Amino acid sequence: MATINEIAPDLFRLSIYVPEFDMQFNHFLVRDEEPLLFHAGFKKMFPLLRESVATLIDPSKLRHIAWSHFESDECGALNDWLQVAPQAQAVCTMVGKLVSVDDFAIRPARGMTADDVLTTGKYRFRFHRSPHIPHGWDAGVLFEEECKTLFCSDLFHHFGDVAPVTSSDLIEPTRKAMRQMQQGPLAGYMPYTKQTEGVLRALADSKPEMLAVMHGSSYRGPCAGMLQELAGVIKATFDQA
Ligand SMILES: [Fe+2]
Ligand SMILES: [Fe+2]
Repeated sequence: MATINEIAPDLFRLSIYVPEFDMQFNHFLVRDEEPLLFHAGFKKMFPLLRESVATLIDPSKLRHIAWSHFESDECGALNDWLQVAPQAQAVCTMVGKLVSVDDFAIRPARGMTADDVLTTGKYRFRFHRSPHIPHGWDAGVLFEEECKTLFCSDLFHHFGDVAPVTSSDLIEPTRKAMRQMQQGPLAGYMPYTKQTEGVLRALADSKPEMLAVMHGSSYRGPCAGMLQELAGVIKATFDQA
């Protein structure tokens, strides 16, 4: 079973720690009239994750399955969820829909543009396009406007089987994790581009009050400063000749 914590009202973090990577894989369930899962997870984690989701809602009632960018830990089990939940729809950026998902998935995705709002009942979600941040042409991050939660995928990733939520600054653990990743086979996984600072500044301008982090602790507190600081950390780590 995943480790489940309600980290904000109706927002559940379902965490699966993989000791070989010393890394958590976190999935977020929003329990609302139209339940939403952020991160479908790896295919191989699906049985465990479905069992864990079933302790919170009937998995067949899932309506929205969203993620940041087309990668197995983000959406590998998408088709398993679409089969279990006949009314569920994949939700991703328009680029994601057009370049990968509508071919990969058993049903067409909802491709979100900057103007689109997804309402699940009490909660309202908007996708912010963030090409190549953390990585992938199709990348985006999801922002919930009522509680001001930013579902930020691999941004602020850090290692360890850490607490579900922290109010301690995530910059140092993130910097350390990025340096460590740069020493291994996945080096170069987060490009620094001319757009990096602008995208992170725009995310900071939406003044998130919680970061739902895919790998590591989620963060509760004012997030704008950390988002702006992250641009400098990405530059220092990845902008190398
Ligand atoms: Fe990723
Ligand atoms: Fe990830």
